[in-house]
Formats: sequence, structure tokens, C-alpha cells
Amino acid sequence: MQRLSDSLRAEGKKIGFVPTMGFLHEGHISLIRQSKAESDVTVVSIFVNPTQFAPNEDFNKYPRDIEKDKKILEDNGVDYVFIPEAGEIYPSGFQTFIEVQEISKKFEGEFRPVHFKGVTTIVAILFNIVKPHVTFFGQKDAQQAAIIKQMINDLKFDVQINVCPIIREPDGLAMSSRNVYLSKEERGDALALYSSLMHGKKIIEDGEKNSSKIISSLKNNFEAYKNIQLDYVGIVNAGNFKEPDFLKEGNEYYILIAARVGKTRLIDNVLIKI
Ligand code: PAJ
Repeated sequence: MQRLSDSLRAEGKKIGFVPTMGFLHEGHISLIRQSKAESDVTVVSIFVNPTQFAPNEDFNKYPRDIEKDKKILEDNGVDYVFIPEAGEIYPSGFQTFIEVQEISKKFEGEFRPVHFKGVTTIVAILFNIVKPHVTFFGQKDAQQAAIIKQMINDLKFDVQINVCPIIREPDGLAMSSRNVYLSKEERGDALALYSSLMHGKKIIEDGEKNSSKIISSLKNNFEAYKNIQLDYVGIVNAGNFKEPDFLKEGNEYYILIAARVGKTRLIDNVLIKI
């Protein structure tokens, strides 16, 4: 892959890169489309990265279907797919990790303490292998995208990052590879995330600027949903993930939410422009 990228670069080709863990859906495909629009060659990686899962998480049962994924990539005109083995990425004796210290600690980081360290490490490794000019991440994982931006800036990776909008099912559920875990009943309950986010957005549009008031109203709204446990609700500045006391005109914020529906953990967010 490194030699291939060297020769593409030598030919003056702009390399676009979409890292994924596979089990591809329309969310992934939207990133691929954006990459194809902005670069000469699009590379997609598929790698279920063991270091971003804690021992009690779903690494072993994470959904996988490489043959179907390859067909989707071919149908969407992807130039190269990179599917490494775990032993090539993490040979025995591997001992170097990358950690973005502040943003990684809150929200997802509080509930998944080793997660982002695994994400930043694998993304840095993949950047060094694929050598992209531009990379595409989804707003679905807004905290992940903010952390990767921070890593790129801090470590001076020569890569441009583009964050693309969330793709949703017609009823509003954000697409996710993990949605296959949901039973029919849970699939209905899962709508609580999107409807709570819409509730939050509406209160802000109606003039509420006090973060803690918005958050408590959203939590109250969430209590109506009995079969789903809230992990967190937060409001952050979209650029730096800092938590404002009051929302200010001219700024962009995310309302973030994470909850468990049965055994499945879901996250979602909405971008608010004041
Ligand atoms: P994965 O969950 O497969 O997601 C790959 C990319 O697709 C991420 O940038 C994610 O934000 C984006 N994505 C997922 N669902 C989306 C949706 N509904 N709309 C738009 N984009 C969506 O995120 C990972 O893999 C991994 O952590 C990875 C970055 C590959 C590192 O292992």
C-alpha cells in the first residue's frame, strides 16, 4: 500500500482516504462519494481495530461481511480497498500509542476509557500507510472527528480532514453498523435519541441560550422513554469540544447524546448554528 501510494503521489494524483470498520452502509458511502468528488483516487480501509474496543465490548461480535463490502465499494467506484490483518498492524512487540489528552477524556471517553487511544493510534498508522492528501470522517462520530483534527494539528500530519453530515434512516435514526443488533422493538425505542435531539434544537431555536437549562429539558424529555438508558447529554462548541455556559450568536455547537437500548449502545448528535 505504501509503494502504491508513493507511485500515485509521484504521478501527481490526489489521494482521498475513507477509514472504516466495514459492514458498510449509506453513511460510509456518503464519505466515499465526497472523496470521489474531491480527489483523483479514493482508498477505503476496512479494519475492525481491536485496540479501540475494551475487553467487555463487542469486538468479537462486531458485524463483518467483507464480500458484501467489496461489492459495495466496486459498485461505488472506489479505486482501492485496503484490508490489513490485525497481525500486520499490531505485530508482537508493538508498543507505541497516540493519545489526544483532553478531548478524549469526556463524553465517549468517560464511558469508553481506552477507545480514543485506539482510534488515534490506528488512524495515525493508516495515514502512514495510505499517505492520503485528504481524509473523510462522519459527523456521526463528532468527538472522534474533533480528536482526529486535534491529532493532525498537533502532530503536523500533512493531511486535510473533511467532516461530512450524518446520514439517517427515513425516520431519523442515524445509520450505524451497530443498528443490526437492535430487535424490532428496540429499533422503535432507538428513535428516542433523534427525537430528543430535535427537542433540544427546538428549544434553542425558540431562544434558550443557557446550556444547563437546555440539557435538563432534554433529559426530562428523555425520561418518557422507559426502555432506554441515557449515558450522557452534552452541548459543546463544534470546533474545540469545550462546554459553553451560554450559547453565543455566530457560533456552531453540537448537542451530543449517548444511550443504551438493551445491550446496544447508540450515539447521535445534531449541529446547531446560532
Ligand atoms: P466506522 O464506525 O466504520 O465509521 C467509519 C466512518 O463512517 C466514520 O468517519 C464515521 O463517522 C462515518 N459514519 C458512520 N455512520 C455514519 C452516518 N450515519 N453518517 C455519516 N457518516 C457516518 O469510525 C470508525 O469506523 C472507526 O473508529 C475508524 C475511524 C475507522 C478507526 O478504526
